[in-house]
Amino acid sequence: MSFLYRVLYRKWRPQTFADVVGQEHITSTLAHEVESGKISHAYLFTGSRGTGKTTCAKILAKAANCLNPVDGNPCNECSVCKGLDDGSILDVIEIDAASNNGVDNIRDLREEANYTPVHTKYRVYIIDEVHMLSIGAFNALLKTLEEPPAHVKFILATTEVHKLPATILSRCQRFDFHRITPENITSRLRYVAECENIDLDEDAALLIARIADGAMRDALSILDRCSGITNHVTTSVVSNAAGLAGKDYLFDLVENINENNPSEVLSLVAKLHNDSCDMERLCSELINHYRNLMIIKTVKNPQKLIVCTDLDLELYKKQAEKTTLFKILSCITKLEECSAMLKSSSNKRTEMEMSVVKLCIPNISSDNTAILERIERLENMLKDGKVVTASKTEVKKEEKPPVSATVEEKKEETPLPPPTPEREHSPAAENTADVDTLFTGWGEVLEKLNVTDKPLTGILGLSSAYIRGEFLLIKCDNPVFSQFIRQGNHANAIKTAVFEVTGKKFRLGIYKSDDKKSNSSDPLADLVNKINNL
Ligand SMILES: Nc1ncnc2c1ncn2[C@@H]1O[C@H](COP(=O)(O)OP(=O)(O)OP(=O)(O)O)[C@@H](O)[C@H]1O
Ligand SMILES: [Mg+2]
Ligand SMILES: [Zn+2]
Repeated sequence: MSFLYRVLYRKWRPQTFADVVGQEHITSTLAHEVESGKISHAYLFTGSRGTGKTTCAKILAKAANCLNPVDGNPCNECSVCKGLDDGSILDVIEIDAASNNGVDNIRDLREEANYTPVHTKYRVYIIDEVHMLSIGAFNALLKTLEEPPAHVKFILATTEVHKLPATILSRCQRFDFHRITPENITSRLRYVAECENIDLDEDAALLIARIADGAMRDALSILDRCSGITNHVTTSVVSNAAGLAGKDYLFDLVENINENNPSEVLSLVAKLHNDSCDMERLCSELINHYRNLMIIKTVKNPQKLIVCTDLDLELYKKQAEKTTLFKILSCITKLEECSAMLKSSSNKRTEMEMSVVKLCIPNISSDNTAILERIERLENMLKDGKVVTASKTEVKKEEKPPVSATVEEKKEETPLPPPTPEREHSPAAENTADVDTLFTGWGEVLEKLNVTDKPLTGILGLSSAYIRGEFLLIKCDNPVFSQFIRQGNHANAIKTAVFEVTGKKFRLGIYKSDDKKSNSSDPLADLVNKINNL
């Protein structure tokens, strides 16, 4: 008796075709071929990892040689079956092409293949990861596949069939292994758990199945890990063992990205970096997080497509409500770009930081995606019946974008004060413009002016003001206003009052709803204008 612990997936490798789960389209054909004695000289097993390729190759090799096959399955009792199992019969040869990929390896194989097997009917070569063979090795193999000795069978297995030359493909009988459905994985898990006396909750089994993503080996490995922690396997044990839990930082990051809060996002990234979090992993986790949000936004029953606990699903739903599909898609695109850059970047932290800052500040870039994102935000505001307004804090957020050098230059050309409407609507002012937001503190400004500049308050009777970048644009229907503001110290009185209310020095201008925008270079500015005039 061995005291070595055998991992579950090895221990529970199916020994007959009937035991193989979820590949009936393959196992029934193979069993039938064995039964009717029509075994091909070369098979190709393809499909994703952990789905039963090597398992079926072993079963087939045994069944083909078994002295008393049962309905095309190996009996697992006769001397040949037993000899193959315990390694005393060496006529089934497994070759890992990943480590034996040279032309010499295949030449050796061809030499050896000429000898008839000692104990069995067929000498069977199972070549795993066959796509790893070198071109020379493929060519050598091809010769053998063309004229194989009658006593030799080949079973080639690969996850990457597209890497095989067509000449090889055309000489094999091909079987495509499918990802195993969560239902099939669940029932196999429960069977194994029962035999192993593991108390496996039903929803825990399903969660494992979903994490395994079609691979039975992964499912059994997770069960192994869970049962190493406790004998009662619940969803929370699974979520801990599989590393699903403890992802609060992703929710935090995305929440702050949604709130356009770059400073908090950067400090979260800094913290993760200090905790030795790998930036490439963080990026791919973020992509997966956004993918889950995207699924929630688009699919009726998202739980089928998202691998998480019910608790996390609720958190995803809440977070998805607070953002738009467009924002999610554009974040995924930007993160994918970041992920590609990270692979070659020498400063991964900076790369990641740049990326998250971009996510926080869509207005920072003027590419189509960013503009569409801004339009969507405005459209949503419209849909909600909102005029585009901004609270004081929002105003702060909208301060960005760092004015480009050319704009600064233009600003310097034009002396301050007093401001003239023409200057305020110069192209420079246009370019700093981003989104005109109604200045909600205007009432407070008027109250202050009522003390400092009474005549001006009279003229500003029915006025309002908008913020555009660093400009405060006053909208006033009184025809004398534009003259009045250029005289005396009125402009400075307004600036002072605005400074007292906002703590920020704005440049002044006159807001005209119907001017300039027709030749605006920014489609958003037009949209904002329309909204404000509703
Ligand atoms: N269809 C299946 N039914 C039951 N168990 C399976 C099945 N597929 C895989 N397993 C389990 O997973 C383990 C690994 O399977 P196997 O080696 O056959 O996968 P594979 O398809 O060859 O994967 P890889 O591409 O990684 O080589 C098996 O020992 C078995 O425990
Ligand atoms: Mg394999
Ligand atoms: Zn047998």
